[in-house]
Amino acid sequence: MPGLTDATRGRILFGGDYNPEQWPEEVWQEDVRLMKEAGVNSVTVGVFSWAELEPTPGAREFGWLDRLMDLMHENGIGVVLATPTASPPPWMGRLHPETLPRDEDGRIEWWGGRQHFAHSSAVYRRYAAAITEDLAARYGGHPALTMWHINNEYCTYDWGDEAATAFRRWLQGRYGTLDALNTAWGTAFWSQGYDDWEGILPPRHAHYMNNPTQVLDFKRFTSDALMECFVAERDIVARHTPNIPVTSNFMPFWQGQDAWAWAGREDVVSVDSYPDPRDPLGGQYGALIHDMTRSQARGGPWMVMEQAAGPVNWRGVNHPKPPGLNRLWSLQAVARGADAVCYFQWRQSRQGAEKFHSGMVSHAGERGRTFQEVKRIGAELALLSEKVADTRVTGADVAVLLDWNAWWASGQDGRLSGEVDYPAVVRAWHRALWEANVTASFAHPEHDLSAYKLVVLPQLYLLTDTAIDNLVAYVRGGGTVVSGFLTGVADQDDRVRQGGMDERLRKLFGIRTLHEWWPLDADEKVGVEGFRGTLWSEEIEAADEAYAVIPYKGGELDGLPAVLRKGRAWYLSTLPEPAALWPLLAGIAEDAGVRPALDHLPAGVEAVRRGELLFLLHHGRDTVTVPVPGRHRDLLTGEDVVDAVELGRYGAAVLEAAP
Ligand code: GLA
Repeated sequence: MPGLTDATRGRILFGGDYNPEQWPEEVWQEDVRLMKEAGVNSVTVGVFSWAELEPTPGAREFGWLDRLMDLMHENGIGVVLATPTASPPPWMGRLHPETLPRDEDGRIEWWGGRQHFAHSSAVYRRYAAAITEDLAARYGGHPALTMWHINNEYCTYDWGDEAATAFRRWLQGRYGTLDALNTAWGTAFWSQGYDDWEGILPPRHAHYMNNPTQVLDFKRFTSDALMECFVAERDIVARHTPNIPVTSNFMPFWQGQDAWAWAGREDVVSVDSYPDPRDPLGGQYGALIHDMTRSQARGGPWMVMEQAAGPVNWRGVNHPKPPGLNRLWSLQAVARGADAVCYFQWRQSRQGAEKFHSGMVSHAGERGRTFQEVKRIGAELALLSEKVADTRVTGADVAVLLDWNAWWASGQDGRLSGEVDYPAVVRAWHRALWEANVTASFAHPEHDLSAYKLVVLPQLYLLTDTAIDNLVAYVRGGGTVVSGFLTGVADQDDRVRQGGMDERLRKLFGIRTLHEWWPLDADEKVGVEGFRGTLWSEEIEAADEAYAVIPYKGGELDGLPAVLRKGRAWYLSTLPEPAALWPLLAGIAEDAGVRPALDHLPAGVEAVRRGELLFLLHHGRDTVTVPVPGRHRDLLTGEDVVDAVELGRYGAAVLEAAP
């Protein structure tokens, strides 16, 4: 399988989405000059170029792209060439309305924006395959081509008729018989029993809550249907260029794609990373995105396909990045394993919906602060390239378990609390590890966990039998596990397990009876000995062999276990406030033999090890001194560091042990 090194030739990729079709060709010359000044070695071209390439059905306008590819090659800049299939030209919707997706109310998503394609439309798929085929045939041998980028942020749901047909086919594949489907969906409830496959619909707008398993399966199906589109295009380009890697960019924490399943079908995993510069924990969110993507790549290469050099334009209020933040977050991506640091987009647009979204070259042009910082980042990444090439993050001994099925099932109507948001819970636990300076990986609950010293389940409402057996075997084999509340409640069909929690898990954690769930209101806190819990609490009776490490204090649950332990298995029936979760988790991690990347770090400083290098990243504004025992060289400054390094606002150091 081709890897990123084939594309990078040993360099960290640096560059971004480039939309030359938005500019007169004189500007291209200017672009090249500035790209070279900034050390740009990679551009992603063609993401939204379908109407330029195929202005009328079947036509081909490749002239501009030929000239662009040649220009990039002449200037030593590699091209990640995108298939343009995320945004069909207006003629397609006009001539073939069935290529337009419908929402759950039956409303059409019209052209005029983007991503208005019906994933299961045969006509859409035919046109998408044809343009992909022709692009691959024409540019497969072009020396500028380094990678294929399929579509963009696959994200369309479709409740329309062709999607309904495809959904039924998918269900037939999963269940075989209607009886099996009726059983899995529990259709005895509310008179929903199906007598014919034709009666089954995507979960369209209904009078009252839809069947939850139908909704769950529709989400599974959507991820698979989009994946079929991806795989079809991937196979076309791979047939032409078996040695050119293929990717498609993820949105992190996006419901529509089961990233575990998708990542296994890509040569290179890539992600679009947009933490909010105003978020005091933006650095933590970036770390989470990197940890998640690195883990999805499962030891393979991965890239930040997009980040913003300044503001985005899709939040309520869109803040610029203060000086130094773009550099800090770019170095963080490399620290956490990225082999590419790229942006949306190269040159800020003057027209269209994203004209206020930043670019590497902002409206202020080359004299603007944004471009000046981009130049510095390009130069520093070039310095690091050789040392980080082919290296991996080390010391990531903790696995945080993450699963789309659990997310899909837990977030539905009819649940006990609308306050429990799965990504927010995962983020709270990752934050605790980040604050404890423990490098985390992510894993699927059915993955082999034996390499990890500690396994953390922030919450997995749905767990398959295989996953449960996997966890039990992991602990039996000497592993330590910590679980958050509302875990192991449902089976693969979203059927509540006997006792409200799987019996094997109750045995694992020492829970005799789970009497009731006690969800908390938005601002409510529950008293626990030594701290306060948020979001949730549970009325649990411990089994004899377990003990309540920390009881609830006050309120209805006074004296009952909030934190339970049985041997190496821990269960937290509430979400401790952040100031309590991290020391609790840090203590468990330490007992499990997990070491932080560096001891005695000042608050706000992140330390990560990649290969032989130690990255220090300061997310705060006040100057701090970081103790680093021994002699090192800072690759960014070329200076020696003896026993300590000083980091200013958003400062960073990349240390290599001095010989
Ligand atoms: C996504 C898309 C880009 C662009 C950016 C803006 O990541 O892939 O085309 O719209 O968002 O942040």
